[in-house]
Amino acid sequence: MSGIDAKRVRTRHFFEAKAAGSPISALTSYDAMSARIFDEAGIDMLLVGDSAANVVLGRETTLSITVDEMIVFAKAVVLAARRALVVVDLPFGSYEISPEQAVSSAVKIMKETGAQAVKVEGGVERAETISAIVTAGIPVCGHIGFTPQSEHALGGPVIQGRGSGAENLTRDARAVEAAGAFAVVLEMVPAVIAAQVTRDIEIATIGIGAGPDTDGQILVWQDAFGFNRAKTARFVRHYANLGDSLLDAARAYADDVSARSFPAAEESYE
Ligand code: KIV
Repeated sequence: MSGIDAKRVRTRHFFEAKAAGSPISALTSYDAMSARIFDEAGIDMLLVGDSAANVVLGRETTLSITVDEMIVFAKAVVLAARRALVVVDLPFGSYEISPEQAVSSAVKIMKETGAQAVKVEGGVERAETISAIVTAGIPVCGHIGFTPQSEHALGGPVIQGRGSGAENLTRDARAVEAAGAFAVVLEMVPAVIAAQVTRDIEIATIGIGAGPDTDGQILVWQDAFGFNRAKTARFVRHYANLGDSLLDAARAYADDVSARSFPAAEESYE
C-alpha cells in the first residue's frame, strides 16, 4: 500500500508524506508494461533512470545514454502511468556545461515526454544548475552520495559519506534543498548518516542503499524482481525471480516448438 494518499501523485505530496512520516515508494521503469503494473501496485514515483543504459541497453555504465534515448523510454512510462509521479534522469553530458544547457535539456525532456520532473546528479557543485531548472518551472529531484555518472571519478560504486565524507554529504543535501529540489536520492550512504541527513533537511530523502530511515526507498526493478540474473548489490532485496521464470518459460516454448506440440488445434484458425 502506498504512503501517499492521492489520485495523482504530485511533488507537494512528497513534503506532506515526509511531514506525516508516510514512507514514499519508488521504482525505476523504462517501458509501458512495467509502468502500468507498478502504477497499479501503488508505487508513488516511477524513475526513468539512466540505469536504462545498464539494465535495458546492456551497457557497462550509464555514461553513454543520450537525451533522445531517455525520451523514448520516458514517453512509454508517461503513457502508462495514471497515478505515479514520473521523474526522468538528465543523462551525463546533458547539463554539466552550463545552467543554460541544463534548462534546455530539461525543457526538451518535459516537452517531449510529458513527465512531471527531472533528476540531476550532484550536490553543492550542481546547486546553480538545479536552481536554474527549478526557476524554469521544472521540478527537480536531486541525487547525492554515490552518483553513477561520476563512477570513474569516484573510483567505482563506493559507499559515500563515511568519516569526514559525512560533512560533505550534509553540505550536498542542504545545497540541493536550498536550490529548490523537491526530493533527493541518497545512494550508497551509511544508514546512520542517511538518517541524520533525513532529519536535517525538509525535503524528502529517497534511499537506495541508504538504510531504513530515509523518507522513501527506490530500487532498480530488474534487480529487485530478479529479472537481472547477475549478482546485485547488498542493498537489493529480491522480491521475485522473473529471470528464472522467463528462462523456464522460454525453454518450455522451445521444447514445444521442437516437439511440434505448439500450436495445438485451439491455438490455430480453422
Ligand atoms: O538511474 C537510476 O536507476 C537511478 C537510481 C539508482 C536512483 O538513478
